[in-house]
Amino acid sequence: MHFPTLFSPAQLQVLDELKTRDLQERQARSTDPMRLRALRQGVAEFLGMMVLQTRARLVAEFGTSAGYSAIHLAAAAQRMGGRVFTVDRMPEKTAWARRNLEAAGLAEVVEFFTCDGVEFAAILPSPLDLVLVDYGIPAFLPALGTVKAKLRPGGLIFVDGWSAEEEGRWETDPGYRAFRENLDADRSLVWWRMSLEGKVHLLVVKL
Ligand SMILES: C[S@@+](CC[C@H](N)C(=O)[O-])C[C@H]1O[C@@H](n2cnc3c(N)ncnc32)[C@H](O)[C@@H]1O
Repeated sequence: MHFPTLFSPAQLQVLDELKTRDLQERQARSTDPMRLRALRQGVAEFLGMMVLQTRARLVAEFGTSAGYSAIHLAAAAQRMGGRVFTVDRMPEKTAWARRNLEAAGLAEVVEFFTCDGVEFAAILPSPLDLVLVDYGIPAFLPALGTVKAKLRPGGLIFVDGWSAEEEGRWETDPGYRAFRENLDADRSLVWWRMSLEGKVHLLVVKL
């Protein structure tokens, strides 16, 4: 069935359930390894828009969790006849995300992987149009070279960001510094930081 809005009623219901749960976990300061830690709504919506606006057909996500962001990416990619490849190192999360994407009617658009992001980067197809990185920069750093090589000219890497209190890490953390030095040394890239939803995000575009 065709929906003129980006999300179908079933998709909106799954998104609403996940958002409510995520909010509860944040308010309770949950330390459960299964907690969602979903993208902020405006960030997920921005990425869905980017998929549509750039006509992205090959989308990769590092950090599936329960699939909140994957639903945004997949709903948009589906309209482009595209696909989303997503990875999480926790099999319980992959299984949970698969159930959510099935409930949202989007499972056929998504390929799920359970492994470390470095392994995932190596098996990703190319050329990648849009990449979402939704776990720590130091943990993603070993996959950066492979992802850059698979990114198409004009392709985007969006790294979900950090709060104002964490901003100092950008200057002090060796993992962040190594990441930045890698980007600075690469003349095929332009990168910048963007504030959205109270966080600072990193955007990298291949020229
Ligand atoms: C912030 S959550 C992702 C949230 C998700 N994108 C969303 O918006 O719903 C980060 C996820 O990345 C996974 N993760 C962390 N480090 C990883 C790694 N090195 N390789 C693969 N997955 C990893 C965690 O298990 C966790 O589920």
